Amino acid sequence: MSLVRTGDPVEAAELIASGARLQRYAHDMQVAVRSVTIPGPWLHPGLPSPLRVTAVDRPAVDVARASLGAYPAGHVDAAQAASLAEAVALYERIIAGQTAGPLIDAVSALLIDGPTETVAGALLVTAMPAAAWWDGGPWLCNLFVAPTHQGAGIGRQLLQLMIARCAEGGYERIGLSVTDGNPAEHLYRALGFARCRSVFVIEKAG
Ligand SMILES: CC(C)(COP(=O)(O)OP(=O)(O)OC[C@H]1O[C@@H](n2cnc3c(N)ncnc32)[C@H](O)[C@@H]1OP(=O)(O)O)[C@@H](O)C(=O)NCCC(=O)NCCS
Repeated sequence: MSLVRTGDPVEAAELIASGARLQRYAHDMQVAVRSVTIPGPWLHPGLPSPLRVTAVDRPAVDVARASLGAYPAGHVDAAQAASLAEAVALYERIIAGQTAGPLIDAVSALLIDGPTETVAGALLVTAMPAAAWWDGGPWLCNLFVAPTHQGAGIGRQLLQLMIARCAEGGYERIGLSVTDGNPAEHLYRALGFARCRSVFVIEKAG
């Protein structure tokens, strides 16, 4: 199975008519780092105790287990991993740099819940190679906050941390892809991201 990403609705319709499966319709977004005013506290998020951020220093299975609650049945991205085994495979590939370029350790982070030392969220940023539609650089490959901690401003703080770390690292732009209908797009827009293209992500045999 291979993945085709095309912005051409005619090509997408032809592929689907020939038996390929539409996995998702998504919007690629970008922000120019220098266009964002970055207050000092963004580098040191004031997370509610006992939460803290660490490097991506846990095995993929710990991240995968935490992710399942954030992408429940009915979520627009639930199909990315329907079981713990699929989620482990997904995060192993991301952490190993096999999804969208190598992980940028200095920008990525895990959210850790202190008393149990469990993963409660992830900010996984990779160095996406340049392409015709992208000049190359940091790519928000995966972001989630466990449901018990959602709605408390933590996702926003993780994104602010990403932008501040990218500014510190001298990166010019950050990109991401958000599935059509995911309310997270509002958050990305609030932080300066804008759509640059829309793509059909299609699974094709062979
Ligand atoms: C997206 C996500 C990381 C946001 O984290 P969070 O900690 O819940 O978000 P925050 O509390 O920082 O919310 C920030 C803003 O986004 C809005 N928001 C977040 N999630 C929302 C949702 N599901 N529906 C509507 N608005 C939402 C909030 O209203 C808030 O806006 P405000 O600051 O103007 O009030 C989290 O909801 C999540 O893990 N979702 C499931 C996984 C996912 O979809 N990840 C993104 C993949 S592209």
